[in-house]
Amino acid sequence: MPTVTDTQENLKTAFAGESQANRKYTAFSRKAEKDGFPKVARLFRAAAEAETIHALGHLAAMDGIGTTAENLKAAVAGETYEFTEMYPPMLEQAQKDNHRAKTMFGWAVKAEAVHAELYREALEAVRTGKDLEAAEVYLCPACGHIELGQPAGKCPTCGLAPERFRRMD
Ligand SMILES: [Fe+2]
Ligand SMILES: [Fe+2]
Repeated sequence: MPTVTDTQENLKTAFAGESQANRKYTAFSRKAEKDGFPKVARLFRAAAEAETIHALGHLAAMDGIGTTAENLKAAVAGETYEFTEMYPPMLEQAQKDNHRAKTMFGWAVKAEAVHAELYREALEAVRTGKDLEAAEVYLCPACGHIELGQPAGKCPTCGLAPERFRRMD
């Protein structure tokens, strides 16, 4: 008979699969758009959204969503793992192989360190019952670097011009 543990494991697998399918269909949609198939692109977007619905349902069912303070703590841990343990050896290998993955690995390792810091800042605020102070959040669309407030200069991670940053809603 299936046990709670089995379902817990199944949820993890399903959440990972659906999350990946969402990103993949998003990429496929952009490609279909570029290739001149806007309706195929729309279908990919709809399916991508459907996979997000599934992924979020699975995450909720496995009690993967806590209080905002708990979620920020989890986010700090996740980003910290990525820039301290996960990416450094991956980057090293890609550099050795002279694989084109080295660019995004290199950007990601720097961006995740910043993400961890920003989450830590947010956690401090939330712990004292406050929201994050910064009114604006800007995202570098090339490398994933995030800045609170309008960027003063080029992206410190990838060098993109500040006017190319995206202001988040
Ligand atoms: Fe990150
Ligand atoms: Fe950047």
